[in-house]
Amino acid sequence: MPSTLYIIGTGPGDPELLTVKAINALKKCPVFVTPKGSPNGNSTALSIVKQAVDTRGKEIMELHFPMIKIHIGTMPITEVREAWQHAARTVLSLLEQGKDVAFPTLGDPAVYSTGYYLYENIMEIDPAACVKFISGITAMSSCSAATAIPVCLGDEMLAIIPATFRDHRLRQTLEIFDTVVLMKVHKVIPHLCTLLGELGLLGKSVLVERAGMDNERVINDLTTITEPPHYFSTIIVRKKG
Ligand SMILES: C[S@@+](CC[C@H](N)C(=O)[O-])C[C@H]1O[C@@H](n2cnc3c(N)ncnc32)[C@H](O)[C@@H]1O
Repeated sequence: MPSTLYIIGTGPGDPELLTVKAINALKKCPVFVTPKGSPNGNSTALSIVKQAVDTRGKEIMELHFPMIKIHIGTMPITEVREAWQHAARTVLSLLEQGKDVAFPTLGDPAVYSTGYYLYENIMEIDPAACVKFISGITAMSSCSAATAIPVCLGDEMLAIIPATFRDHRLRQTLEIFDTVVLMKVHKVIPHLCTLLGELGLLGKSVLVERAGMDNERVINDLTTITEPPHYFSTIIVRKKG
């Protein structure tokens, strides 16, 4: 098998939620390339991994992926594009050296993850590069577990959306779907409270902060939130039940 990049979901924070497949891939890769949101910050994905896998002897490279709103279908700003291309070139060079590379990413790579931006940029440079995805447990699943609120049952329809985009789609989605999972909510709580109040959905909403982490918090009344919660916060709005 050629040298391979494994894009690995770490789950949302509790190291026990790393899958066996993820742990096995992490153990066998000599190099970890990990994303971090700010140049001087730490990689959350790496901190989760370190609690479950011995990283002594691993080559670890933390790369900065700017946390800027991305509108799919439009070209991201130069800073973001350059960061993605740099990460892609770094990984390709490691693969050319014959090294397997692990790219741990929070939750599941399929859900608002830098993993796919890395993948697309690698494919643009070298479509023959060997890349494999390993699923992780999503933040949504962990928030559901923390609250015992299912996200969809029977004929219910589920939507997962980022709350950061202030356009008509947020209201529309809340009107149409039976359950809406709102991600990236930390900076927009007052706006969400107003919207959910107008739609009569405040009583159906719960916020989970740092699900599965040491300081997990469940907030049933969003109007009691006075300070922005942590970035790792998700709201589940379930109309039925
Ligand atoms: C860039 S997205 C990553 C989503 C991740 N790939 C997944 O599968 O859940 C970041 C958002 O995920 C949610 N999130 C991640 N970890 C979380 C946690 N431990 N508790 C609650 N929400 C979390 C928050 O809404 C946060 O703003």
